[in-house]
Formats: sequence, C-alpha cells, structure tokens
Amino acid sequence: MASGRRPLIAANWKMNGLKADGVALAQAVAARAKSAGATLAGEVLVSPPATLIDAVSAAIAGTPVLLGGQDCHAQTSGAFTGDISAAMLKDLGASHVILGHSERRTLHGETDAQVSAKVAAARAAGLVAIVCVGETEAQRDSGDTIAVIVGQIDGSIPAGATVAEIVVAYEPVWAIGTGRTPTLAEIVEVHQAIRARLASRIPGGDAIRILYGGSVKPSNAVEVLALADVDGALVGGASLKAEDFWAIVSALPQA
Ligand code: PGA
Repeated sequence: MASGRRPLIAANWKMNGLKADGVALAQAVAARAKSAGATLAGEVLVSPPATLIDAVSAAIAGTPVLLGGQDCHAQTSGAFTGDISAAMLKDLGASHVILGHSERRTLHGETDAQVSAKVAAARAAGLVAIVCVGETEAQRDSGDTIAVIVGQIDGSIPAGATVAEIVVAYEPVWAIGTGRTPTLAEIVEVHQAIRARLASRIPGGDAIRILYGGSVKPSNAVEVLALADVDGALVGGASLKAEDFWAIVSALPQA
C-alpha cells in the first residue's frame, strides 16, 4: 500500500446466492464492518447479483459497507430485455459497478468499446466504475501482457473520466477462480504499467486505485496487499464466506 490512496476490498459474488443466504452473508460482513468502525483500514464493498441488490442494500444500511453492481447497460433505458441500467443500480443504493469483467468479455463478447460506453453510463449516473483488465494465459506466455493491459486501459476508459470516477482491477484471466496467482513481481510490474498509463491519460491519474484480483484468499492477501502499487483487491470465490472475506479485509496494512 502506498500514498494517500484509500484501499478498497471489493467482493464480487458473481451468480451466487439466493435471498436468504445473500442477506445472511451481507449481514455478516456488515456486522464485522460496523464493529471495526474507525479501525477499518479501507473501504469494503459487496457486489451481489442484481436480484439481491435491494435486499442487500437494506441489510448493509447504516454500516460502512458499500454496494456495487456487477454490470450495467450503456443506455439509460429502453428495449433491452434482461439488462439493467446504471441509474437502476444507483436507485437501489449502489455506489459502484464492476465493468468489463473477463467473464463478461469472454462469455458475452464485450469489447473495449462496449465497456467504455458502459463506463460512460456509470459516470453519468454517478457510479464509480471498477474497470477490469487482464491478460489470458496465452497472452502472458507470448510476452504480450503489458501491451494487452495498456490496450484495454486505453479502450475501456472513456476520455474525460476523472480520478474519483474510476477504479481499475487487474485480473489475469488465468488466475480467476483457479487458485493460481502471478508472482508478486509480476503483479508489481503490471500495476506499475497501469499506473503510468493512467497518469499519462488522466489528470492526476496516478491517484486512481488499482486493485488486484484473481484467487485472492486469506493465505495470500497479506503479501499481495502489502505491495506498494496494490490498492486493494477484487475478490470472487473467497468473498462468499464472511470469515474468509473478512480475513482479506483484515489483511490490509494499517495506514
Ligand atoms: P476469484 O475471482 O477471486 O474467484 O479468482 C475474482 C474475480 O473474478 O473477480
């Protein structure tokens, strides 16, 4: 951890949870956040599936836990069956939305241009966009990691975006849900490249928080979160158990 950037630990529940267990998980996280109070070393965010956002919003009300969506449409409203808009997320109490997750890019064919349009929609609705980037294993093996990441940054963050509106999550595709992680040196190399690119594109862009994501768990969180250019984590699998998620939150270095 470094500088004045306030760290963020963001949970991505993906397509998991029915109402009872989602609410129970949110309540368990909220209770821990509430009792941590001023000792919380960063921000804590949960991103439930869309069906649970309203119930989770109620469950975390009055606690420091923040609420995020996992995706939004680029348009504000209209004939887009099955989609939800940024304003709809905001309406239920969300402050953030994850955009361009590799599962959206791969399974739904989302392009950088589409992600960029969604980030613009999030900005317009007053949501912070957590923009995900990451290389595939083949791209890493062929030495293209930095070029791929820089291209995704350039293509996925619209011109005019400001520091307060953007968080970047570096998530190597091959590390998501696999239990495998890059070496600490590899994480540092990519985070430094992202920071340099953000600094050159956005005024004050070196203050944008850059999260690491991909098989973050209690056993590796301390060493990952201690890295100077890592400003927090985006956590999938380990965010589905309150104890594991809270162990990761607790691994944040005290400022
Ligand atoms: P994981 O997922 O922690 O299960 O690897 C991270 C993510 O996809 O955001």
